[in-house]
Amino acid sequence: MSKKAFITGIAGQDGSYLAEYLLELGYEVYGIVRRNSTPEHQESRIDHISDKINTYYGDLLDQGGLQRLLDDIQPDEIYNIAAQSHVRISFDIPQFTVQTNAIGVLNILEAYKRSCPNAKFYQASSSEMFGLSVDEDNSQRETTPMNPVSPYGCSKVFGYNIVRNYRRAYGLHATNGILFNHESPRRGSNFVTNKVVKAAARIKLGLQDKLELGNMDSYRDWGHSYDYVRAMHLMLQNDEPGDWVVATGKTHSVREMCDYVFEKLGLDYKKYVIQNPKYMRPEELPYLKGDSSKIRNELGWSPKYSFNMLMDEMIEHWLNVYQKIDYETKCSILDRN
Ligand code: GDD
Repeated sequence: MSKKAFITGIAGQDGSYLAEYLLELGYEVYGIVRRNSTPEHQESRIDHISDKINTYYGDLLDQGGLQRLLDDIQPDEIYNIAAQSHVRISFDIPQFTVQTNAIGVLNILEAYKRSCPNAKFYQASSSEMFGLSVDEDNSQRETTPMNPVSPYGCSKVFGYNIVRNYRRAYGLHATNGILFNHESPRRGSNFVTNKVVKAAARIKLGLQDKLELGNMDSYRDWGHSYDYVRAMHLMLQNDEPGDWVVATGKTHSVREMCDYVFEKLGLDYKKYVIQNPKYMRPEELPYLKGDSSKIRNELGWSPKYSFNMLMDEMIEHWLNVYQKIDYETKCSILDRN
């Protein structure tokens, strides 16, 4: 009999790659999508598999609804990937961020404990939890102290700790993946990699002439979402639950990323990129570089994508999208600029 997986945030970047991956492995896939008054594009990342998966409206803030679904579905694996995932926006909507990313984790853990305690549970924890902490060898790992610098980071620390607490207190197979930044052509456009790649492709094609960014001197360890959803699945195949860092071990500044992307398109980023304080954060996390030795040694995970391969895939994707647009759309984009 095929295994059943339940995914919160199935319509997001990671949810969509995870759903595809689990379908390939023969799983029955279930997931929840938040109701939104503008449905257009809300499920565009999972449109191509919509006839193979089962989606329901649901929300991490509605524990009763989550419990009813888990009662009915009785999944073998639960992946809690839904979140208010944008760090800068968490400064604008801190209460909503904490409700969703902290209380929301508690809600789904309670529903899981009551409905299907024999299932395995994955929590999307984040490298943003480390905040200002860096070990002496310039890396962050499972043992690095957590010192978050955003409402988002603080909310994720609660989620991480409550998962560990439920694991020990109730003997649940509840696991944290501490994922460093992970990107793809499906990344939301207000995260820095996709914002830069989309703008560079449009500048190359004459559809845009400037790109406004915030802090260009922060460093991030950027991997590919496809590699990271494979890690999520691997963690739940382990007999014991635990906490695992997932990262490439390489770090680049936002400036270096801009340099790479623009140069790939034959452009000099310095001519087009300007800094706008609007995109700066009230407190910034300056440096991330993950040491993922634990998952590599214990579970045999390793990434297939390098930083260059990831960026190249994103560049190719957005060049194709913008090259295909018709003359009328092109004129309307130019008008808007
Ligand atoms: N979004 C954004 N927009 N970031 C910018 C910009 C801009 O215009 N200009 C500079 N940056 C800088 C940010 O200040 C930050 O230092 C870096 O680019 C990366 O920003 P994001 O792509 O928004 O990602 P993030 O690191 O804040 O958070 C992502 O990674 C976390 C894991 O560490 C998100 O995916 C989180 O959900 C995830 O937990």
